[in-house]
Amino acid sequence: MPEDDLRELRTACLLHDVGKVAVPDEILLKPGALNTQEIEIVRQHPAIGEDICAPLKSLRRILPVIRHHHERMDGSGYPDGLCGHEIPLMARIVQIADIYDALITNRPYRDALPSEDALETLNREAGYGWLDSSLVWKFSQICRCHEYFPVRGRSMLASYYA
Ligand SMILES: [Fe+2]
Repeated sequence: MPEDDLRELRTACLLHDVGKVAVPDEILLKPGALNTQEIEIVRQHPAIGEDICAPLKSLRRILPVIRHHHERMDGSGYPDGLCGHEIPLMARIVQIADIYDALITNRPYRDALPSEDALETLNREAGYGWLDSSLVWKFSQICRCHEYFPVRGRSMLASYYA
């Protein structure tokens, strides 16, 4: 990607979940499974994030990334049920990095997974038709060479809670 796109991708990575400010902590930090109503509230966060960032001209180009980072390649994602390459490339990249980061980070409901287990999960989800399998393959290659991002036990976000 050109440097300008990479800059936007980095900004999108930081802001993609900003809509979660509208999700109550008791749902975000719930140790057990979410009920139907709670799932519905969580699923609103991409559109809320888009609404929050929309007034800022400097974020205009990443609005589709924020809105579509929970779409799935087979159309079963949200909020719009986009399929395959209808999902913006940056959104497909962010969702892979986001899932990986979640898996290798301690959560209220489970401990962090080792990197290899997280990559296995990503590959499985690509196999289900949820993630872009060519991007998951590239991500796995980059991750295994430990060159661009070292494996961490905690995410930057998680460290704020320390
Ligand atoms: Fe999200």
